[in-house]
Amino acid sequence: MSRKEVIVLLGPPGAGKGTQAKELSQQYGFAHVSTGDVLREAVKQGTPLGKKAKPIMESGELVPDDLVAGIVSERVLSGGEGVTILDGFPRNLPQAEYLSGAAGDIPLFVINICLDEETVMKRLAGRRYCPNCGKIYNIFFSPPRQEGICDVCGSELAQRKDDREEVVAERLRVYRQQTQPVEDFYKGQGNYFEVDGAQEPEQVSKQMSTVIEQIQAN
Ligand code: AP5
Repeated sequence: MSRKEVIVLLGPPGAGKGTQAKELSQQYGFAHVSTGDVLREAVKQGTPLGKKAKPIMESGELVPDDLVAGIVSERVLSGGEGVTILDGFPRNLPQAEYLSGAAGDIPLFVINICLDEETVMKRLAGRRYCPNCGKIYNIFFSPPRQEGICDVCGSELAQRKDDREEVVAERLRVYRQQTQPVEDFYKGQGNYFEVDGAQEPEQVSKQMSTVIEQIQAN
């Protein structure tokens, strides 16, 4: 696929959007833009964007629309041909309307990774990561051999501030209230697909590939 296209990944926090986006970008050579990753990097670097976003992200709320729209405009809609996976945007109806308008002639496809709230909570509240080598663990499903220590490099594991249980609960509330209406917005427009995010990652990837083939056949 050389024409410019955008594939939007929807789904609750922890549905596996980032995991699947990385897989698709390896498998098909697609570009991948995650608004959450861009914001976390800005927080880490202490940029003006990061300073504004930090307290909002730590509370589980959404960062103001104009800030995230700027990321999408610069990194997704500008530039040359090819497919970009957009992960984490749109998160509310104004963002969805912005994207439809700003994309102009660029075709948009939407894949919604569906997952129940109980599994979301376990995946996120149990997630730990190694700040040194990036390896991801889950204290319920895939714990490190020694509690709190990375198997690969021996560094101390950390938890994303927004993965604390009370913040995950807030992220889910925001998702229900603001992001679920976005699903209905796209469902009515065609080019909308759903996959079951509760399966093993490899099974989810297989279902994603089937959808990509359908998109490519368009
Ligand atoms: P963002 O980074 O977008 O977070 P999120 O979507 O809420 O959650 P995750 O990134 O954790 O979920 P994911 O679906 O990518 O799952 P993942 O693959 O990581 O946003 C963070 C914050 O930034 C927001 O709260 C907001 O403040 C701000 N923000 C971002 N975009 C914004 C926007 N557009 N507007 C306003 N504010 C914005 O997987 C999760 C875990 O599950 C991992 O440990 C993974 O290994 C595991 N896992 C994945 N798939 C499976 C599987 N199939 N089976 C078992 N485990 C799995």
